[in-house]
Amino acid sequence: MKSMSLLCAAALATTTVTSRAVDATEIYTKTCAKCHGADGRGDTKMGKKLGAKDYTDPKVQEALKDDSALKSIKEGLKDKEDRVLMKPAEELSDEDIKGLVARIRSFKK
Ligand code: HEC
Repeated sequence: MKSMSLLCAAALATTTVTSRAVDATEIYTKTCAKCHGADGRGDTKMGKKLGAKDYTDPKVQEALKDDSALKSIKEGLKDKEDRVLMKPAEELSDEDIKGLVARIRSFKK
């Protein structure tokens, strides 16, 4: 007389996978801040060594063109002597990169 059956397997264990677009600030903090600084001033050890600009400076912002910024993030950046300043961001999508440019823009004082 075992009428009680437990259907454990039928437990509704639905996991919702939300593909959240990665937050630009998160990427920035993880991969860019070591050179450009958390506040975009570029006054980190690496930033100073490589000559990162102060992106809170309106003049620096003005000199930076969106096209160039997108390209530099995507393809990397070298100096005149062909030394690598920034590595290409291969793992980032175009959307991520756009978000990062917006992040850089937001440092302007
Ligand atoms: C290893 C250090 C380093 C890292 C990491 C780094 N950068 Fe740079 N970046 C530089 C240097 C040096 C320059 C050249 C001077 C400047 O414009 O500040 C530069 C320039 C730039 C420029 C201007 C490019 C142009 O065309 O004038 C942008 C925009 C930029 N970085 C964004 C980023 C973003 C976004 C990340 C993270 C995904 C990042 N950087 C990671 C060192 C770095």
